[in-house]
Amino acid sequence: MGKKATRILFGVLLVTGLMAQAPQRPAPAADLNQLMRGLFFPHANVVFETQRVDPAQIKRHPEPSSSPDPLTGIFGGWDAVENSALTLIEGADLLMNPARVCSNGKPVPVSASDWPGLVESLRAAGRVSYKAAQSKSIDAMFEASDVLNVACANCHNRYRRATRCQ
Ligand code: HEC
Repeated sequence: MGKKATRILFGVLLVTGLMAQAPQRPAPAADLNQLMRGLFFPHANVVFETQRVDPAQIKRHPEPSSSPDPLTGIFGGWDAVENSALTLIEGADLLMNPARVCSNGKPVPVSASDWPGLVESLRAAGRVSYKAAQSKSIDAMFEASDVLNVACANCHNRYRRATRCQ
């Protein structure tokens, strides 16, 4: 093999090696608005619902295994509140994906200086909700709902605007 061919072969091996190492992140399926409607809105509502009803008293769906409402399903009541809080915490990571776009086709502003902090506030609010749900205290849930509501609103006030993300 000539010198040039060897160099090309090394080059190819290096590039394929680097490609194999790069984390394979699938392109996001949802835009930011779809993620808000599909994940954050329904799971935040599970948390907020505790301001109206005690999860321990919630009547189960006639067929709990097919309930579309986490609170009335087979894993309902306080378990559902805990799980929705955890989903909000985990879901916060999805808001930091630089490949995601907003409904207007522009990238989610993950590199804006205040975006990561707003996402972290949401994550922290999810943790407060989770702790409150574990304690099964309605008073704690009232406080947690307030913290969560503020975390959602702070980002919306800043980014959910015609001139910004939307
Ligand atoms: C870090 C920023 C951020 C946080 C935190 C955030 N949102 Fe959003 N939300 C947005 C942006 C930006 C949009 C508009 C997205 C778009 O148009 O693509 C949006 C849109 C929405 C929409 C869609 C409204 C519509 O009319 O279609 C809902 C619902 C929503 N958010 C709910 C929530 C809830 C509930 C929370 C808290 C649990 C939350 N969001 C937290 C940034 C955020």
